[in-house]
Amino acid sequence: MAASKFPVPKVTTHVLQEMKLKGEKIAMLTGYDYSMARILDDAGIDVVLVGDSASNVMAGHRTTLPITVDEMIYHASSVMRAVQRALVVVDLPFGSYQGNSKEALHTAIRIMKESGANAVKLEGGREILESVERILTAGIPVMGHLGLTPQAINKFGTYVVRATRDEEAQKLREDAKLLDRAGCFAIVLEKIPARLATQVTGDIRIPTIGIGAGNGVDGQVLVLHDMLGITQDFSPRFLRRYHNLKEEISGSVKAYIHDVKALDFPNEREQY
Ligand code: KIV
Repeated sequence: MAASKFPVPKVTTHVLQEMKLKGEKIAMLTGYDYSMARILDDAGIDVVLVGDSASNVMAGHRTTLPITVDEMIYHASSVMRAVQRALVVVDLPFGSYQGNSKEALHTAIRIMKESGANAVKLEGGREILESVERILTAGIPVMGHLGLTPQAINKFGTYVVRATRDEEAQKLREDAKLLDRAGCFAIVLEKIPARLATQVTGDIRIPTIGIGAGNGVDGQVLVLHDMLGITQDFSPRFLRRYHNLKEEISGSVKAYIHDVKALDFPNEREQY
């Protein structure tokens, strides 16, 4: 995007709502650090999600459970220093909101105050409704997250497709309506049948953003490191890799090692 002397118009929750009404798809990616977030924002991404997937791709944990509120604030603050246009949404990490709605509000306020982010995301439906409502009364926009909710991996036991059975699908549709009525501005639908995601998208007024939920939703999200091919040990069907960055980086590092050892770097022009 070319540099301009005019301020860049900011994507707000209202802009996302208008996009749904106009049928314009929403493009969301995860971002965890300043340099990558600058690239995402300059490229025109609509929403940057500071996901708790940082626990996996940035910190190397097996699940999203260990990441702390302080660590999420660190990642979110780095992203906020980079982003001018995109809406920045931050995950409330595991254990920081499930206890009670007061604790949930406290965490959401800390994240908003200390990072300057635009909104928060919470996993779950009816079980966390009171927390969602309390956060909303403080004027903090909330994004929901239904279907495969990785913070509950120890309950699910696996990362397989969710809501394939009628009972779970029905609960998911009801949860989506509850979150919509409560005042959430969007809902992530993760790894559920495409038909169900399309039904939910028609059931509610707010945008749905899918990951492994087909193309009948209002937008898509992927984990940045997965779609760039930095991580290679995770290959679900829904993941489209746009690049093989692991190979590219590895090739550059090998070339650098070679040049250093061969006394080829630095050369005459690369020194003072
Ligand atoms: O943390 C994350 O990256 C997410 C996306 C998978 C939606 O919640």
